[in-house]
Amino acid sequence: MPAGFQQLGGQTVTGCLALSVFTAVLGSLQFGYNIGVINAPQKIIEADYNATWVHRYGAHIPRGTLTTLWSLSVAIFSVGGMVSSFSVGVVSEWLGRRKAMLINNLFAFIGGGLMGMAKLCRSYEMMILGRFIIGAYCGLASGLVPMYVGEIAPTSLRGALGTLHQLAIVTGILIAQVLGLESLLGGEDLWPVLMGITVLPTVLQMALLPFCPESPRFLYIIRCQEHHAKSGLRRLTGRQEVGDMLAEMKEEKRRMDMERKVSIAELFRSPMYRQPIVIAILLQLSQQLSGVNAIFYYSTSIFHKAGVKSPIYATIGAGVVNCAFTVVSLFLVERMGRRTLHMLGLSGMCGCAIVMTVALALLDSVPWMSYISMLAIFGFVAFFEVGPGPIPWFFVAELFSQGPRPAAMAVAGCANWTANFIIGFGFQYVAELCGPYVFLIFAGLLLFFLVFTFFRVPETRGKTFDQISCGFGQRSAAMMDMDSEMDKPSTELDYLGAEGTL
Ligand code: GLC
Repeated sequence: MPAGFQQLGGQTVTGCLALSVFTAVLGSLQFGYNIGVINAPQKIIEADYNATWVHRYGAHIPRGTLTTLWSLSVAIFSVGGMVSSFSVGVVSEWLGRRKAMLINNLFAFIGGGLMGMAKLCRSYEMMILGRFIIGAYCGLASGLVPMYVGEIAPTSLRGALGTLHQLAIVTGILIAQVLGLESLLGGEDLWPVLMGITVLPTVLQMALLPFCPESPRFLYIIRCQEHHAKSGLRRLTGRQEVGDMLAEMKEEKRRMDMERKVSIAELFRSPMYRQPIVIAILLQLSQQLSGVNAIFYYSTSIFHKAGVKSPIYATIGAGVVNCAFTVVSLFLVERMGRRTLHMLGLSGMCGCAIVMTVALALLDSVPWMSYISMLAIFGFVAFFEVGPGPIPWFFVAELFSQGPRPAAMAVAGCANWTANFIIGFGFQYVAELCGPYVFLIFAGLLLFFLVFTFFRVPETRGKTFDQISCGFGQRSAAMMDMDSEMDKPSTELDYLGAEGTL
């Protein structure tokens, strides 16, 4: 075996494949960084907003205005993500996956620059605009990265390599949490640096992308460039003979050529796509409505309310647990499968949400309950990363063949960002209304998603894209036949089997 090649899960990981995946997930690292960066330095940045106000109007900023400006600074990030994630389909088809990632970096430069200069220019508007633009960067990255990685990964490693997107996100969150400590970059003078260094991974990604091949699937199936696709495959696999892979793509292309171009509306209209798109959306919702970002945006105040002594360090603890369990998932996903891990994660989170509620409710009478609620939060995050964190991101790319994939990624990404916005913006209000019982809402939602996954979500491990989409196509065709036979009951479950497997 040539140097720089490694055997993993029976598959060869070439230097080129490793480099391409690493380069792509630098975008995910940025995504995580910008989720986590806003949590710790809140008070310091708020003080600067106040200073700007005093400078402009000669009086202190009213409390309500400050809260609005801060909520806007936090939540506008997901609005940027919502808007841009919807264009993932168009952009990735027009420019190709690799060039789209390259050009997306412009957003990171502009966003990072605006945030980094906001203090110097005494402008909270620049900070808010910067958060919007970096959100737009992250929205595109959250679609482009899993799409590219899913397309260049060998079938047997698709889940493991797909999980690296999430691993980079959680690493980004942790780096931001640590650098955000007041003693590091989260202090009065250095917070602009904390915001601005988000451009560093951008520079690295721009330097490395030219060495990564464009997705051979995209080149062959969409652009019909067999020669380029072949040379990309050779570089990625380290093999001269790539006929078997090309044959599989040929089959997918043959099918795609028979279909009409798949628009977003088509995804919902065509019975062939309706079921996978509903699954894709619900999986994304299960990720966000699990409540995990209530923790990542507001953990410090949650820990504080739970009576934990050093909330900031507990937040970092949650970040460490978050990273550790993503690694666990990385090793399990090709062994246990997506479906099992997702269900395991959802049920564990549901259990932890209930424990957390009990602990918070008893806090006044039983002081050591603060430890229990802290452990429950760690458990909640750990179970999240076992399944609901990483799986929905790459699962969408798996559910669809080349034709509908970009449109599906756009819809799913937008669903994810919208739910992210709802939690980011609404959690504090609901938490005030419900007090210690707020996590019961998440427990209920988690139960719903668990039941949905059990009955509706198929296993995709080890299957080619073509086999997966065929599973849905055949089933839909069969459903249509059945629907026409009025005397027989038509339930999709008959086709899914008790386990919902394809
Ligand atoms: C997932 C979610 C993201 C969340 C993160 C936490 O990547 O998409 O919103 O903050 O996991 O680890």
